[in-house]
Amino acid sequence: MAEVRVERLTKRYGSATAVDELDLTVRDGEFLTLLGPSGCGKTTTLRCIAGLEEPDAGTVSIGGRVMSASERKLFVRPERRDIGMVFQSYALWPHMTVSANVAYPLKLRRVPSAERDRRVGEMLELVGLAEFAGRSATSLSGGQQQRVAVARALVSAPRVLLFDEPLSNLDTRLRATMGAELRAIHARTGTTSICVTHDQTEALTLSDRVVVMRDGRVEQAGTPEEIFVTPRTRFVAHFVGFDAALPGRVVELDGGMAYVRIDGTDRVVRCRPGSDLPLDAAVDLMLRSSAVSVQPAEHDDGALNRVPGVVVDRAFQGETVQFTLDVAGHRLLAQVPSHATGGQAEAGRIDEGPVEVVLPEAGAFAFLAEHRAHAAERPAAPVGPTGLPLPADDLGLPTTLGGDPR
Ligand SMILES: Nc1ncnc2c1ncn2[C@@H]1O[C@H](COP(=O)(O)OP(=O)(O)OP(=O)(O)O)[C@@H](O)[C@H]1O
Ligand SMILES: [Mg+2]
Repeated sequence: MAEVRVERLTKRYGSATAVDELDLTVRDGEFLTLLGPSGCGKTTTLRCIAGLEEPDAGTVSIGGRVMSASERKLFVRPERRDIGMVFQSYALWPHMTVSANVAYPLKLRRVPSAERDRRVGEMLELVGLAEFAGRSATSLSGGQQQRVAVARALVSAPRVLLFDEPLSNLDTRLRATMGAELRAIHARTGTTSICVTHDQTEALTLSDRVVVMRDGRVEQAGTPEEIFVTPRTRFVAHFVGFDAALPGRVVELDGGMAYVRIDGTDRVVRCRPGSDLPLDAAVDLMLRSSAVSVQPAEHDDGALNRVPGVVVDRAFQGETVQFTLDVAGHRLLAQVPSHATGGQAEAGRIDEGPVEVVLPEAGAFAFLAEHRAHAAERPAAPVGPTGLPLPADDLGLPTTLGGDPR
């Protein structure tokens, strides 16, 4: 077991910077996940920790010992770092059997064969592959190969375990089982573990702490709950499932809350500022579609957090009904529990036409609208006949739920 410390780590490929002055400390025994979209530098960070890449700058230490320090030209070879790694592409030896693959790290360490067989047997038992010991590694399914890779990473009882998308090739059921298995293995061994994924559910369920990466840097670090409930940036919010958005402007700041007037309406939403916001700032109000509710239009009394909308589409999804709404020319999704789960009766009743949209207070965050802030430096935005700016019809957000954030 060991603490892993990464300081100002930089790795470039030609003119592209894959990891950009990254700072990261993984506590002894912690399970930490790097979460971020494709290409943000997750695998490169892991490979630098493992010693499979030589960083251009910065230091990597494991258990208080410096493993690489570019400025001092210090570099400890990967096999001397006492690390177990599960690669994104398994990297099994195709010409070897399952047990020979798992035994390989022990062979390198010259562990006597009786001891080797015992530990390999234990590991295969642990990952549920005992009956496959003699099979060739490549004759197994993707999920089985991934379990061989996990067994191989664990067999030498390393001080640090690195997992690169360990569950990505498994079907939903196996993914849940293997996820629980990884947590159980971690609880039993207490090995400091760093996992990489672009799947937020995986990150939240596996980890003690999550680090969201963007363009080779840390965007936000925190417990799964902190990241999921209080994203600090628009990028993180988007990434952890804030899939509904409305553009607006800050009209008041009071008691730690922001009051945002939705563009194209006279309605104000009380919400939480995602960061420091100046008065009159152009913001995007970000919410989870599951927190937006829809009511018949007759209740409309202009109260806070209520905006008029029109249902443009209604899709029954079983446990929920997904409404696609038009709010003053902006598209907004609402995911309402259906009558099938004893949810809002309205969801069963409301079809097309005008409705009142109810926005949550606690689950809504206002973030500075980056691209619109930049746009303000260019010639003035087009103004509609009412004198209000024309709605931004593209907030750069996904319009479907459950989409791959990559
Ligand atoms: N060997 C390489 N040569 C050139 N560019 C590379 C190399 N490895 C990675 N990169 C680039 O560095 C950036 C970060 O890549 P990396 O593999 O770390 O991303 P990632 O976050 O693991 O993405 P994914 O989720 O797709 O696996 C990308 O732009 C990638 O194209
Ligand atoms: Mg990767």
